[in-house]
Amino acid sequence: MICRIRWKEGGGVNYHTAMEIEFANGKKLRLVQGDITKIRVDAIVNAANSALVGGGGVDGAIHRAGGPGIMRELDAIRTQLGYCPTGSAVATGAGSLPAQYVFHAVGPVYHDGHHGEPAELEGCYRKCLELAEERGVRTISFPAISTGAYGYPGAEAARIATHTVARHLEKPETGVREVLFVLFDGGSYDLHAAIAAADFRNQIK
Ligand code: APR
Repeated sequence: MICRIRWKEGGGVNYHTAMEIEFANGKKLRLVQGDITKIRVDAIVNAANSALVGGGGVDGAIHRAGGPGIMRELDAIRTQLGYCPTGSAVATGAGSLPAQYVFHAVGPVYHDGHHGEPAELEGCYRKCLELAEERGVRTISFPAISTGAYGYPGAEAARIATHTVARHLEKPETGVREVLFVLFDGGSYDLHAAIAAADFRNQIK
């Protein structure tokens, strides 16, 4: 893997810190601190639950900002599929959010890390990237799935998230050009930035 890392301060209107990792093929992974509902992308990832019934945290923020149409679509999916398994995701439109799609990913509830949680968390990122490729999505934003109510330790989750996305962006055939990790609080941003800087540093061009 060959990539370049840049730090940017005062990055934009809706976020104030950013780190950018650019891979040899020009694809980018960006870390920003901010509110995922305010940043324009093609697809926004939600940290949902298996029942797809909405909740607090980023799920609540996405439904509030996107409007009731998103839940109506989830009602239809629930009628058809029943639920979304942990480690997977389903797609809806984005209502009034600044995006075309919302991918509702169901992360694992963290027990001790030995109950399949790492594979399930990785599965969320992989499934969302697959949904993105199927829909011609070029830019996609992720929150730190499972690290809030579901209790996944931040550093472990950040390592899985960044490496899973990096592996996808390095593929020559990927249509996704840019992946944003939108971290709500400074602590989560710092964790992701430290892990990305350490784990990708050796590959800096
Ligand atoms: N933008 C970006 N990130 C956000 C936002 C936001 N507007 N609001 C919260 N977050 C962050 C949290 O700080 C946390 O780091 O999203 C991360 C994930 O936290 P949760 O939303 O609690 O998601 P998760 O841990 O996956 O738990 C999912 O919570 O709300 C319910 O319905 C949801 O039952 C499901 C569970």
